[in-house]
Amino acid sequence: MHILAGPAELGAWRAAQGEVAFVPTMGNLHAGHLRLVEEARRYAPAVIASIFVNPLQFGAGEDYERYPRTWENDCAKLAAAGCDALFAPAVEDMYPQPQTCFVAPPPLADELCGAYRPGHFRGVLTVVLKLFNLVRPQTALFGTKDYQQLALVRAMVEQFALPIAIVGVDTVRADDGLALSSRNGYLSAAERAEAPRLYQTLAVLAERLQAGERDFHRLEQDAAAALTGAGWKVDYVAVREAGTLAAARVQGGRFVVLAAAWLGSTRLIDNLETAGP
Ligand code: PAF
Repeated sequence: MHILAGPAELGAWRAAQGEVAFVPTMGNLHAGHLRLVEEARRYAPAVIASIFVNPLQFGAGEDYERYPRTWENDCAKLAAAGCDALFAPAVEDMYPQPQTCFVAPPPLADELCGAYRPGHFRGVLTVVLKLFNLVRPQTALFGTKDYQQLALVRAMVEQFALPIAIVGVDTVRADDGLALSSRNGYLSAAERAEAPRLYQTLAVLAERLQAGERDFHRLEQDAAAALTGAGWKVDYVAVREAGTLAAARVQGGRFVVLAAAWLGSTRLIDNLETAGP
C-alpha cells in the first residue's frame, strides 16, 4: 500500500491511475471502514482511503484532541483489506492557511445532529469537497451509520454537479446489534453492555412503523423515554423520510428512524431504515 503523506505525493500517485474509488475516514478504523474498502474494489481498479482528523468539523469542547489516533493499526488493517493507497495529510497540508472559504450546507445541516453540533456539517462538507478535489475519485463510499452526513454529501455532489458517484454502505454491527463506531472505544465495560439498547430501541420503533403506526411524535417520545429510563441522555429520536431526511409524512413510503444519545460522556448515533411499504 502506498502511503501518501501530502498533496504532492498524492498527485504523483493519482497521475498514474485511471479510475479510483475513495474511502474518506478519520482513522481508528473498524470493520465498518474495512467493508467500505472492500466494497470500493467493485467500483474501480484502484482504491484509495484517507485518514485525516478534520479540526473543522469538531466544535469547541468536542473530542478533537482525544479522538483516537491509531496509525500503525490503521495502516495494517487497510493493507490487509487490499487498499492500494492511503492519503494521510497533516493539518498544515489540508489547511496551509486558515480556511476562510466554506461550503454553506442546506438547512438540513442545522437539524438532527446539526442542531447539537453547530458548524459540524459545514466542516464535513468543506473537507470532503477539498478531499474530492485532491483525490479526484470517480466513486466515493460512505457508511450509512452517518446517515445525515451521507444525505448532505449527496446533496452537495448533486447541486455542485461533481462528477463523483456516491455509494452508501450498510452499517456493520457487533453481534449484539451495536453499530460499530470509532467512539465505542470510549465506553466503559458497563456502558458497552448497555449500548445495544440504542439499536434495540430503534428496532422497536421501526417495527411499530412497519405495523402501520403513524403518530410520529408519539413514536419518537416512546423511544426517547425508553432510553432516558435506562440512564441515557437523549439528544433526539426522529422519524424521517428515508433518503432525503425530509419530515415524515403519514402517506410516506419508506422511513428512517434516527437517534443520538449520550451514555456517560460518549455520544452515540444510529439509524434504521424501514423496509418498503
Ligand atoms: O465520516 C467521517 O469519518 C468524516 O466525517 C469524514 C467523511 C471522513 C470527513 O472528515
